[in-house]
Amino acid sequence: MNDVQKRAWEAYSERWLVERDQLSPAHPGRAAGLAAPDSLPDSSLIGIDQMTLFGRVAPLVVEIGPGMGDATAAMALVRPEINLLAIEVYKPGIAQTFSHLARLGVTNVRVLRADAAEVMRNVVIPDSLAELWLFFPDPWRKRKHHKRRIVTPEFADLVASRLQPGGSWYLATDWEHYARQMLKVVSSCEALSNPHAAAGGWAPRAPFRPETRFEKRGLGAERAIFDLHVVRR
Ligand SMILES: C[S@@+](CC[C@H](N)C(=O)[O-])C[C@H]1O[C@@H](n2cnc3c(N)ncnc32)[C@H](O)[C@@H]1O
Repeated sequence: MNDVQKRAWEAYSERWLVERDQLSPAHPGRAAGLAAPDSLPDSSLIGIDQMTLFGRVAPLVVEIGPGMGDATAAMALVRPEINLLAIEVYKPGIAQTFSHLARLGVTNVRVLRADAAEVMRNVVIPDSLAELWLFFPDPWRKRKHHKRRIVTPEFADLVASRLQPGGSWYLATDWEHYARQMLKVVSSCEALSNPHAAAGGWAPRAPFRPETRFEKRGLGAERAIFDLHVVRR
């Protein structure tokens, strides 16, 4: 981490960071982010206790991979009505996200340091998310790495199961090959419907989504940006 990130990590971790083991039933501080197991539909799932994490209950949105957090902070600012749980593995990115949150005075975000796919599977309970955001996920450009891409039919089924009926999954990428894979995957998922299907499937930019660093880089390289918005049936 650079000096700015180190300082942000030290200053803000207590306020905004959630570690994966804080969500584990094995953790001594069960109160940290844990819903009472008997209130869950499936007791093997941990659940996100919004009162503990955010101090309030609000429509819960998960963002996978906020990266450096510039867009995350801007989006949380224009969506004050949501509780945003941003899940990221990259520590310098999390620290940088803290500094953006502090700069904009954002209060409705917590950053969970964890593998988002694992959290979606083992923590987030079914029918619980108002929205899922996946903006500019790692494109894994080389053919031999395509299997590492997060958007797969199995992942789409998982997302659909975690969204509330009527809940939205927003995706964007600047990598056309991945975009076409995403469109195919979400279109084949029976639990999801695409309100833009009749117009080719691509969505307009989500109204709350600003241009990100990755997007600017893509546009700079004259790549198109592909947005998708699908809804849990
Ligand atoms: C290309 S960046 C995009 C950042 C941001 N969404 C943006 O648009 O600027 C993708 C981010 O996803 C994170 N990431 C990749 N796989 C992840 C996973 N399984 N769980 C959590 N974060 C992940 C990476 O660490 C990286 O920061």
